[in-house]
Amino acid sequence: MERDRVLAWLADNVPQSRIQHILRVEQMAIALAEHHQIDVEKAAKAALMHDLAKNFKSQKLLAMAQAEGLAIDPISEVNPHLLHADVGALVARDTFNVDDAEVLQAIANHTCGQPGMSTLSCIVFLADSLEPGRGDTPELAELRKTSYHNLEQAVWLTCDYSLKLLVETHRLIHPRTVATRNWFLQKVKNSQRVVDKTA
Ligand SMILES: [Fe+2]
Ligand SMILES: [Fe+2]
Repeated sequence: MERDRVLAWLADNVPQSRIQHILRVEQMAIALAEHHQIDVEKAAKAALMHDLAKNFKSQKLLAMAQAEGLAIDPISEVNPHLLHADVGALVARDTFNVDDAEVLQAIANHTCGQPGMSTLSCIVFLADSLEPGRGDTPELAELRKTSYHNLEQAVWLTCDYSLKLLVETHRLIHPRTVATRNWFLQKVKNSQRVVDKTA
């Protein structure tokens, strides 16, 4: 079974604590996919494979991204760990023969999101940030609730949450997180405007 093959590979390539995170992301992605009525199998697969490259060394991440011809932006150059999402999609494609573009994109989008990303990508992005192991604060509880009510709003607010943490801990912010946040904020505001007009 393919899932077993991925789990065996993960056991050799990421620590046990990371595997536990991955399994919680898989569970939450399945729950969100069922709730929002999208392909559960795709969500489970993308979630299971989202952190394949999480423990690759910076040099390996940079080398694989370069070999693929991916554009390496200045923030990823300083912080190559950010490339684990894009490189994870390459591992899924090359080691596990994943050829579903939407699944590959969901893996690649799991860290910084992407303006206009698919529902599948939104679900994996949210499951990664909000799985139960991320903590038990009222703010996280609220975001988890929102992820069931309104996916787009949840992506916007989860970006805000991540951005706040990055500011507080004095870490670099990738501009794509900001772009994702702005896109989903506008999407929510525009749909509210349409609702207001028709009311
Ligand atoms: Fe990750
Ligand atoms: Fe993750």
